[in-house]
Amino acid sequence: MRRNYISRRILQRFCSQVVISSIGSIKIKLLLCCCIAFTVVFIAGRAVTSMGWRHRHESLRHFSTPRNGYTILINTWKRNDLLKQSISHYASCVGLDSIHIVWSEPDPPSESLYDFLWDTIKSNSDGKDIELRFDINKEDSLNNRFKEIKDLKTVAIFSVDDDIIFPCTSVEFAFNAWQSAPDTMVGFVPRSHWVDKSKKNIDYYTYGGWWSVWWMGTYSMVLSKAAFFHKNYLFSYTNQMPASIREYVAKNSRNCEDIAMSFLVANTTGAPPIWVKGKISEIGSTGISSLGGHKRQRTQCINKFVGEYGNMPLVSTSLKAVDSRNSWFW
Ligand SMILES: *[C@@H]1O[C@H](CO)[C@@H](O)[C@H](O)[C@H]1NC(C)=O
Repeated sequence: MRRNYISRRILQRFCSQVVISSIGSIKIKLLLCCCIAFTVVFIAGRAVTSMGWRHRHESLRHFSTPRNGYTILINTWKRNDLLKQSISHYASCVGLDSIHIVWSEPDPPSESLYDFLWDTIKSNSDGKDIELRFDINKEDSLNNRFKEIKDLKTVAIFSVDDDIIFPCTSVEFAFNAWQSAPDTMVGFVPRSHWVDKSKKNIDYYTYGGWWSVWWMGTYSMVLSKAAFFHKNYLFSYTNQMPASIREYVAKNSRNCEDIAMSFLVANTTGAPPIWVKGKISEIGSTGISSLGGHKRQRTQCINKFVGEYGNMPLVSTSLKAVDSRNSWFW
């Protein structure tokens, strides 16, 4: 049903677009022919579906709604209003299975916060049974974000900051992309690294921010502020990654846990991450990335981690996954 609805919408959009945009043009006949042909194909397709191809149709539907959804792993710190806003939003996403809130404040979450979240989840999730958990940490460390979670219900994790929101369609699309490549990281915020040519005799790397990705179209990381990855990486981050890296993240830099995760995944897969196009809405004020010195510190982290790994595991790519329903003429 959903597929039919979507293709019908596309067809309508296509036809109205054609009629409006090319009145008076010599090409209108050609385009109208295309339109009619599309309509015929569409109607024929529907007829076939209702004439005994049910089985195939059913299996397609099954394919597009996987049995297992994903867990949202949301990192928050003293911003309950943002937390409320993002949880009420994500509760309405179809594939959502559990919500884990990484809580590193000295005081435990209040009863009223818990009640609020629970109510909004119940009213927004369309009767689905969604789990809500606070993972409470004693110390305030950036590594808390990737602590191993013992009884996770899903293998897919959507790690997200509390101050950015993506429409459910973007999240589900990224989830689909991740299902095609469950070992890799699939996310919305790409970053890059470059060899610093001015340092002649050693390999020194520079962190490339948003501008550099925009300019070159190349990236080698997707940030965990908005990315899917396999739950096994939580285990690896906490138990297998060199402790010196966790220490560096917690003490020296108080930053770069996302770069550490990118290194970990790249060292495991030997492949680049996948950047997925999605619409970002920032709901909080701008965070640390707009502060001065941020880039220098990230550059230091990269070079520190390269030292720990003994090589540079990050792999660059310029591939970008885009929802084909939103891109017109291929
Ligand atoms: C990187 O991957 C290799 C090969 O799987 C592994 O032997 C090595 O321990 C990993 N390096 C780090 C620093 O985790």
